[in-house]
Amino acid sequence: MNLTVIGTGYVGLVTGTCFAEMGNTVTCVDTDPAKVAQLKQGQIPIFEPGLDDLVKNNVKEGRLRFTTSLAEAMADSHVYFIAVGTPSNGDGSADLSQVLGVAREIGEHMRDYSVVVDKSTVPVGTAEKVRDVIETELAQRGETIPFDVVSNPEFLKEGAAIEDFMRPDRIIVGTDSDPARDIMRQLYAPFNMNRDRTLYMGVRDAEMTKYAANAMLATKISFINEIAGLCDMLHVDVENVRLGIGSDSRIGYSFIYPGCGYGGSCFPKDVKAIIHLAESCKFEPKVLRSVEERNQHQRRVLYLKIRERFGEDLSGLTFGMWGLAFKPGTDDLREAPAVVLLHELIGAGARVRAYDPVAMEAARQQLPKAWFDNGDLILATHQYDALQDVDAMVLVTEWKPFRTPDFHAMHKLMKQPVIFDGRNQYEPQSAKQAGFEYVGIGRKS
Ligand SMILES: NC(=O)c1ccc[n+]([C@@H]2O[C@H](COP(=O)([O-])OP(=O)(O)OC[C@H]3O[C@@H](n4cnc5c(N)ncnc54)[C@H](O)[C@@H]3O)[C@@H](O)[C@H]2O)c1
Repeated sequence: MNLTVIGTGYVGLVTGTCFAEMGNTVTCVDTDPAKVAQLKQGQIPIFEPGLDDLVKNNVKEGRLRFTTSLAEAMADSHVYFIAVGTPSNGDGSADLSQVLGVAREIGEHMRDYSVVVDKSTVPVGTAEKVRDVIETELAQRGETIPFDVVSNPEFLKEGAAIEDFMRPDRIIVGTDSDPARDIMRQLYAPFNMNRDRTLYMGVRDAEMTKYAANAMLATKISFINEIAGLCDMLHVDVENVRLGIGSDSRIGYSFIYPGCGYGGSCFPKDVKAIIHLAESCKFEPKVLRSVEERNQHQRRVLYLKIRERFGEDLSGLTFGMWGLAFKPGTDDLREAPAVVLLHELIGAGARVRAYDPVAMEAARQQLPKAWFDNGDLILATHQYDALQDVDAMVLVTEWKPFRTPDFHAMHKLMKQPVIFDGRNQYEPQSAKQAGFEYVGIGRKS
């Protein structure tokens, strides 16, 4: 099948590439000319394990190409995947301007029966808005072309995006149209080889499913973070509690790791958007509001613990930070707890030496230039280089190389042997035996 994928970010690029890998001919469109130029030269603008080789191979085989022109891409395809961003507006609602802008352009260029697939995460009712915008454009052209709008939310995780797309837990397809359902069934057949994982449902049901999934995961994180806060007060080790509750098959171990809050391009904005959605229909989202509130607090927890130990004025102190990306496996800094902490530490007068295995270039490009110019933030060449003469080490992202560090080498490098472990990666006892003062999240500290 010939497909058009609009938006070549984490979702669009992975979607287009994986469909091409299954034999489809895919044109990926992006309005960012620099990104398209990079992709045309075989350079991948994001870090995503396995993506590089897949893109290169499918480009070489002629199944994958890139352009800035939607009109050109639509010329020989009838299925258009919308995978553009849906960031937060100031009031927490989802900003649909990119999605509706694409819908307008689709309406301008549509020639015959087409299927428009919403892959971006969008509030309930968006497919109807997309339909209205396309119909308005067609009416202006004096055309009546049949088309369907399908909701097909994406559940991939950054850092495991290829694996998630190729072997999904489920594929959600929201549509009431038989022809659209058949096209989606054909497209996803290669991802359903040993069993059909597709759940067909109404368009609005599919839109809600994506928000509910992200809200549930965020709720688990905020729940365990709340328990960790209470453990801190009561001198209880939350790690024992986590194992104790995770062993209950009704609860399970996933997404109950205490830490310094969730971040990234999805959970924060999607929880805000579903809260806004509830408010817009005069429904009080009590649980979701608390999830969001707990996370806002949790993103400050490391800073609050640092302040408790070192005082409010941090000038003259230097902190070694391990991890910048919002989670391991990605170079994505969007809403990263590390960035929140950098603002707090530098704002309080501290200097930071930071290291991340893959997000250094993203940090250099996206963090305030003044931090680098003033020497407030130094990007270290190695994880141990980040600890040279620092007053404390702060672990923010739990990359694998940070899991079993050489405590002896760390002790020798650091001015003061203090560890703030934002992801509970170390055993407090082992750190203490190695001569460190250890502060974790809910760990009797
Ligand atoms: N990143 C994830 O892990 C993830 C997972 C599941 C769902 N989602 C959702 O998928 C959507 C996309 O997320 P992302 O992380 O890939 O976003 P992104 O910001 O990485 O990429 C969006 C891309 O769309 C491009 N774009 C914007 N307007 C355009 C237009 N009119 N025409 C063509 N291209 C245009 C941008 O230049 C950008 O490259 C969001 O709704 C997000 O919530 C993201």
